[in-house]
Amino acid sequence: MSAIRRMTPEDLNAVLGIEAASFGAPWTRALFEDELARENDRVWLVAGDDDALVGFGGIMLAPDGAHIMDLAVTPEARRLGVARGLMLHLAREAADRGVARMTLEVGAGNTAALALYASLGFTATGLRPRYYDDTGEDAVIMWADTARPAAILAAERGEDLVLAIESSCDETAASVMRGGTEILSSVVATQVDFHARFGGVVPEIASRKHTEAIVGVIDEALERAGVTLVDLDALAITYGPGLIGALVVGVAYAKGLALGTGLPLVGVNHLEGHIFASKLADPELEPPLIALVVSGGHTSLVHVPAWGEYHTLGSTLDDAAGEAFDKVAKLVGIGYPGGPAISRLAEQGNPAAIPFPRAMLHSGDYDFSLSGLKTAVITYVRKEEAAGRTIHLPDLAASFQAAVIDVQVAKAVRAATEYDVRHFCLGGGVAANTALREALRSALADNGVRLSVPPFSLCTDNAAMIAAAAHFRLTRGAFLELNAEATASLPLGV
Ligand code: KG4
Ligand code: ZN
Repeated sequence: MSAIRRMTPEDLNAVLGIEAASFGAPWTRALFEDELARENDRVWLVAGDDDALVGFGGIMLAPDGAHIMDLAVTPEARRLGVARGLMLHLAREAADRGVARMTLEVGAGNTAALALYASLGFTATGLRPRYYDDTGEDAVIMWADTARPAAILAAERGEDLVLAIESSCDETAASVMRGGTEILSSVVATQVDFHARFGGVVPEIASRKHTEAIVGVIDEALERAGVTLVDLDALAITYGPGLIGALVVGVAYAKGLALGTGLPLVGVNHLEGHIFASKLADPELEPPLIALVVSGGHTSLVHVPAWGEYHTLGSTLDDAAGEAFDKVAKLVGIGYPGGPAISRLAEQGNPAAIPFPRAMLHSGDYDFSLSGLKTAVITYVRKEEAAGRTIHLPDLAASFQAAVIDVQVAKAVRAATEYDVRHFCLGGGVAANTALREALRSALADNGVRLSVPPFSLCTDNAAMIAAAAHFRLTRGAFLELNAEATASLPLGV
């Protein structure tokens, strides 16, 4: 990107050239000279290097906000991010002067400019009919909080300080992150003990516990990071998918915080967060890739051709993988959550002891079904009990786990081959399963595919992964409007 600096009178010849090439009714030299003289309430910037300017733009600082006066880029330099860079810097100048909002008018037919401004966090608020004298075209009026483009600029520089909040299931979590990679704090308050005696997450309890924990968790995340709300560039919130009563607690709190502080809000899809947990652990993880997200609520195989583009190839038709671990653990009475208990037991068991079904192993698609396996385990346990035999729990755990892993590994390898990717990542609570990690790593390696996994602390729900995904969304200017709602079944890619 070109260097951006203050406009001086010496720039005016070049500026007038760009102006004349851009508009049917260009501004005159006298107008520009007048603007440059008004140092108190004007900021004019130019982009380019010393021998050639490629663009310029200016704002007027008024009590109701900063008005974009003029912005133009040479035809040769269009689509290179020059206008975007100028806008980001103008917003930063306004934000630094305590001006909270900025506005502009743009031709209603100028779809490229409308898209650019939308990606900078502007929203259309009205129309001025036949605004342009020369063409009679309508103008769209757009507004943005200056904090939005200022946050995008910080993210582009890798300096954004983001507070992320996660409350989609049974963990209340908050994290402060710089530049999408540096975890300054990650606080997780788990409710697992409150759900344990029910053998699964009770939505009403989850919702209640989030409301109890959220203030303390956020305060602790800020304190451990050594920052306060005024230091932040943006807030991030998981707004789906998940338990609706749990999601709304975080979403409502984040909206209130955004309203009270004026900070822009970024909405993150929980599953995207699980994918970014691997990116946090392995910066070299890059699309095109395939991701397997396996948790208590989800089992999805996703093709990621580029960050932000997600094609779900298949998912579970019934129970999620973690849910199957939890239900089997409950059946044999070894506690909740079931995943860690079963994987520990499985270490001493024989995975070939009981031939449990490999559901949909040869279904030819990327969907999964785990309820049949659960039923097979129930049937096996009942039969053994009826026959008066004691169940060898390690063998049962190892055989059940192997049945889950075999199908996941087979579909993972097939997807990696079909979509011809060199990178694969695993995410979600079940990604903490060592046997799954190892089976996947070796099967993928045999096919020349590199596996990235998060550290154990980032497998189960946390807010650091939400902050990492938010950083990426921030660089694209994807903000959540304050009237957006928590969405229980939010599809990936939204
Ligand atoms: O991602 P997560 O914290 O919450 C959801 O988004 O659902 O995942 C929790 C799930 C639980 O079902 C738990 O049993 C499972 O992850 N899990 C495991 C292991 N550790 C946690 N499953 C298998 N093996 C593990 N070691
Ligand atoms: Zn999760």
